[in-house]
Amino acid sequence: MNRKIKFAVIGLGHIGIKHVDAIIKDQNSELIALADKVSFEEIKKKRQNELSYLDRYKFYNNLSDVLKIPEVDVINICTPNSSHYEIASESIKNGKHVLIEKPMTLSSKHAHLLVKQAKNQNKFVFCVMQNRFSPTIMWLKKVIEQKKLGAIFSVHVNCFWNRNKSYYLSSDWHGKLDLDGGPLFTQFSHFIDILYWLFGDFLNINAKFSKFRKSDYIEFEDSGVLNFNFSSGPKATLNYSTSIWEKNFESSIIVIAERGTVKIGGQYMDKLEYCNIENYEKPTFSSALSCNDYGSYKGSAANHGKVIENVINVILNSHKIATSGSEGLKIVEIIEKIYSFRK
Ligand SMILES: NC(=O)c1ccc[n+]([C@@H]2O[C@H](COP(=O)([O-])OP(=O)(O)OC[C@H]3O[C@@H](n4cnc5c(N)ncnc54)[C@H](O)[C@@H]3O)[C@@H](O)[C@H]2O)c1
Repeated sequence: MNRKIKFAVIGLGHIGIKHVDAIIKDQNSELIALADKVSFEEIKKKRQNELSYLDRYKFYNNLSDVLKIPEVDVINICTPNSSHYEIASESIKNGKHVLIEKPMTLSSKHAHLLVKQAKNQNKFVFCVMQNRFSPTIMWLKKVIEQKKLGAIFSVHVNCFWNRNKSYYLSSDWHGKLDLDGGPLFTQFSHFIDILYWLFGDFLNINAKFSKFRKSDYIEFEDSGVLNFNFSSGPKATLNYSTSIWEKNFESSIIVIAERGTVKIGGQYMDKLEYCNIENYEKPTFSSALSCNDYGSYKGSAANHGKVIENVINVILNSHKIATSGSEGLKIVEIIEKIYSFRK
C-alpha cells in the first residue's frame, strides 16, 4: 500500500455511521468529510451525543462542496434509496468513485446509466452487499463451486423479519413507495443478491404479495411468496415478510441437492444449521457473525469493514470488486421483474 484512500460519507443515519466507523478503523483509509442534508448538531442530538467523536471531521450540508474537495477518492452514498442515483451521478461527474448502499438504485434505467457513466469516466461503482462476506455464505459458495453437492435440485429461502410502526414512523422515507420501494429493495435485496451470486438469474417468476398488517404508514406489501427457477437450473421458492411479531425470526436458505442437503439459518443466514453431504464433514465456524444493531431494530450482517477493505484493495491493488455496479444493476433488474407482479 503506497497511499491511503480518502473517503467522504454522505448521509449520517443508521448505516452512514457504520461506514464512518469502518473507514476510521481501516489503517489504509482516511475520512475526509461528512455530509448530510440536516445539520450535524441535529444528528448528534438525535443520537444523544454519542457521535461527538466525529467533531474533529469536517461536516458539510451540501454535496457540491464535498465534491469540490480534490483529495476525496470515494463518495460513500448512505442516503435513502431514491436519492442514490442523483448523488452517484453527480459524484462520478466530478471525478469520484462511488460506494453505493443497497439497493444501488430504485430503477434499472438509473442503474444502467450509472454503469455507463462510470465506464466512460473510468471510475468504479462499488455496491454494498456485505452478506457476501459472511463465513457461512462464503462456505456455501465454495461447496457449490467445488460441486460437492452434485446437481442442485431446489433452493428455498425464508426471510421473516420484524419492521414495526416505530421503524416506519421514525424516518421520512421508510414505507413510501417512491422513496423506499418496498421490502425487496430495503430489507431483502441482500438475500436476492446472495441467491443471484450463488445460482444466477431468476427466471419464470411467479409472485404473490400480501399486506398482513393493515397499516397506513406502509404504501406497499409487507409479505410475499415467490416461485421461480434459476438460470443455472434449480427450482426455487422465496418467502418473505416484515410483519413478524416483535422481532426478526430468521433468514434461511435450504439447498436440496443430489449428494447433500444444507440449511443455513439464524436471523441473518449466519448459522450452518444442517449439513449432510456425501463424504463431507460438517464444518464449524469459529465466531458467530454479528448483525447491525440499530437499537430499536436489527439489520443485516455487520461486515462493512470488509466492504471498505475491498474498495481500497480494488483502487490500490487491482483486486476484483466484491459487488460491482453491473451486479448491483442485476439485483435491481431482478427486483423490478418480481415487482412487475404488483397490481
Ligand atoms: N447494507 C445494509 O445492511 C444497510 C442497512 C441499513 C440501511 N441501508 C441502506 O442505506 C441507506 C440509508 O439507510 P439508513 O437506514 O441509514 O437511513 P437513515 O434514514 O437512518 O439515514 C439517512 C440519512 O441520509 C440523510 N439524507 C437524506 N437525503 C439526503 C441527501 N439528499 N443528501 C444528504 N443527506 C441526506 C438523512 O438526513 C439521514 O441522516 C438506504 O439506502 C438503505 O437501504 C443498508
